[in-house]
Amino acid sequence: MDETVYNQTTVTGFALSALFWLLAGLMAGLWIALEMFEPGMNFTPWLAFGRLRVVHTNLLTFGFALSAIFATAYYMLQRLTRTPLPFRRLARAHLYLFNATMLLATVTLMAGLNTSKEYAEPEWLVDLLVLTFWVMFAVNAFAILVRRREQQMYVSLWYLISVVVSIPLLHIVNNLEIPVSLFKSYSIYAGTVDADIQWWYGHNTIGFIYTLPILAMFYYFLPKSTGLPIYSHRLSIVSFWALIFTYLWTGAHHLLLTPLPEWIQTVAIAFSILLIAPSWGVVINGYYTFNGNWELLRSNYLAKFFMFGITFYGLQTIQGPLQGLRTFNAYFHFTDWVIGHVHMGTMGWVTMIISASFYYMIPRITGRELYSVRMANTHFWLILVGQLALTIVMWSGGILQGGMLKSINPDGSLRYSFLDTVVALFPYYRLRFASGVVYFAGILLFVWNIIRTFTKPEAPRP
Ligand code: HEM
Ligand code: HEM
Repeated sequence: MDETVYNQTTVTGFALSALFWLLAGLMAGLWIALEMFEPGMNFTPWLAFGRLRVVHTNLLTFGFALSAIFATAYYMLQRLTRTPLPFRRLARAHLYLFNATMLLATVTLMAGLNTSKEYAEPEWLVDLLVLTFWVMFAVNAFAILVRRREQQMYVSLWYLISVVVSIPLLHIVNNLEIPVSLFKSYSIYAGTVDADIQWWYGHNTIGFIYTLPILAMFYYFLPKSTGLPIYSHRLSIVSFWALIFTYLWTGAHHLLLTPLPEWIQTVAIAFSILLIAPSWGVVINGYYTFNGNWELLRSNYLAKFFMFGITFYGLQTIQGPLQGLRTFNAYFHFTDWVIGHVHMGTMGWVTMIISASFYYMIPRITGRELYSVRMANTHFWLILVGQLALTIVMWSGGILQGGMLKSINPDGSLRYSFLDTVVALFPYYRLRFASGVVYFAGILLFVWNIIRTFTKPEAPRP
């Protein structure tokens, strides 16, 4: 089908938004990383760690990852169905509302207006706007599926459908709250029910943003950019359904060894272990797709983003279920080990797949070559080194921290105060900041490369 019939402006708008929120979110991340060993950086409540941490997580999870998901979803949906976008104006309104909502969320969170539910911190007014833009997206997504000219449903479409259905549902259930003023509300749940629903939401929101749509990109952009057909479509579909079924039961692994009924915790642990199978179904599919074509890692600059990305996904999905075991969790919960887990996923898996998808997609929607492949290669190595250093530092710090927090004297009293652990972690926090700067340098190259691809029409550089 002729490329010109497809809507590119919404894709471009969301891609540029993703880059903007990525930079803003990372600056917040660097700032809070600095605050951990330079407390003077907390000089105003607006930049206090407690507020800025939430800004970091929201801007990257929703601002960056979600706009990248919308950009690539609008791109993939049109091509996989061979159908132009049904409602272009609605898509444009979606783009504007999304960015306005992110802006409102950032300002209110920096002002300290917070529901205190992780990944659902913005207050009720923002929640309503979030729901509205999801409905706008869902209308276009389902309309295009109904009108599609391609009968075969490629696996990426299934992943996208699961996101459109699940995120609004999770959002509504967890955010049922009673407003008491314009910027304050109280959840209708209380106690362990509140905690259980919160982590059912929290875990699945992470999953349906940091995993499933990223897998949709992996399955679409890997074959497109390497020319290699996916090893097994059957495996891709089987692992999709198994992943969907298993994922939704695991939220309570965030609440192990708490007053939550023990059987709920045990169900979550069992399903976390089961989750290894569908997750590795995708990893194996990715590796077998590459089988015998490993020279592409040298000759195709995008191949390494995909293969390293899926490798980090594979490692995450082994580390995650282990963390979900009670013994392991008793040691590592409340430590920086978990922060290492989070950042291998986000800085490794998520960023690598989104970067490669953008490098493939942007030249096609602009009709220009990528500004610089060399810059893209440098970007890859910088984010790889930055990510590995940051996660290894956090895992090591977490082991030390867990040991110190659990260490007791012969009379049963704690050997170390909390402050002792903080002081012991100072060198790790310095190294985390330095690793973050390396990663950030790579991201700057990425953003510059994409912007120059948009703005520079003349002949590309090598
Ligand atoms: C089989 C797959 C996975 C399982 C079973 C799993 C399990 C876990 C567990 C048990 C925790 C809680 C640790 C604690 O607080 O004690 C956790 C935290 C987390 N995981 Fe995973 N994980 C998996 C894959 C992933 C992937 C692919 C990502 C992608 C980025 C990810 C992102 C996160 C995040 C962001 C948190 C922090 C949640 C918070 O704010 O407390 N996980 N994971
Ligand atoms: C320059 C790179 C980065 C730096 C320096 C950084 C720094 C931090 C810091 C200091 C924290 C708080 C840790 C704590 O409370 O002890 C954090 C948490 C978090 N970051 Fe980052 N970050 C970076 C990149 C990213 C990226 C790219 C993403 C997502 C795409 C991300 C997502 C998160 C999430 C979800 C959490 C919450 C984890 C939890 O609650 O367990 N970060 N980050």
